[in-house]
Amino acid sequence: MKKQNYLFAGLAVISLSLVFLHDVVTADEDPAVTRTRQHVEMLDTLYKTAIVLITDKYVTDPSKFSGASAAKMLFDTMKENGYHEVRLVGLTDILVNPGINAPQDDFEKAAKEKILAGEATHEEVVTMEDKRYLRKATAVPVVLERCVMCHGNFAGNDGAIGSLMYTVPLIE
Ligand code: HEC
Repeated sequence: MKKQNYLFAGLAVISLSLVFLHDVVTADEDPAVTRTRQHVEMLDTLYKTAIVLITDKYVTDPSKFSGASAAKMLFDTMKENGYHEVRLVGLTDILVNPGINAPQDDFEKAAKEKILAGEATHEEVVTMEDKRYLRKATAVPVVLERCVMCHGNFAGNDGAIGSLMYTVPLIE
């Protein structure tokens, strides 16, 4: 065989192996988990955009109703309607509302460690009363200078200072 033909045969083998490997890797993932993860990514974009928009346009001084408080009302409504649960959790040592917004269970504590170590997310599939859920934590950084107006301890912190913690029923 000519040199080019060897090269061609080699490339064909590599491409076929990649197709095969791709199938093996994706076959391992439960499609319900993939679907639900995409759903959580959509929710995360929606909630974060809403909170930042509210803070940017309306929360002009510290006496105003905070984006965090508005988000929590939104989360309560979604929970009451049986859709999903979301918690706004603080990852710094000083919290406005430590009783509720500190990491509470093992998942939230593990997520805090991972996210503070630089991971963007942390997730786990859990079963509660015969129903499966995706628990997923996503990082919240100090996205606006204005955040420091009420959270003095955020000044100069360019890492994650909080997390949205989702508990979403798997889309089976
Ligand atoms: C007007 C003041 C104000 C501004 C501005 C503000 N927050 Fe908050 N933030 C609060 C209040 C009040 C809470 C507690 C809400 C509750 O639990 O009911 C809170 C809670 C939080 C928490 C949960 C941890 C804790 O401290 O209780 C995080 C994380 C957080 N805010 C991040 C941010 C980010 C990021 C920004 C900028 C986009 C921001 N905040 C802007 C007032 C503010």
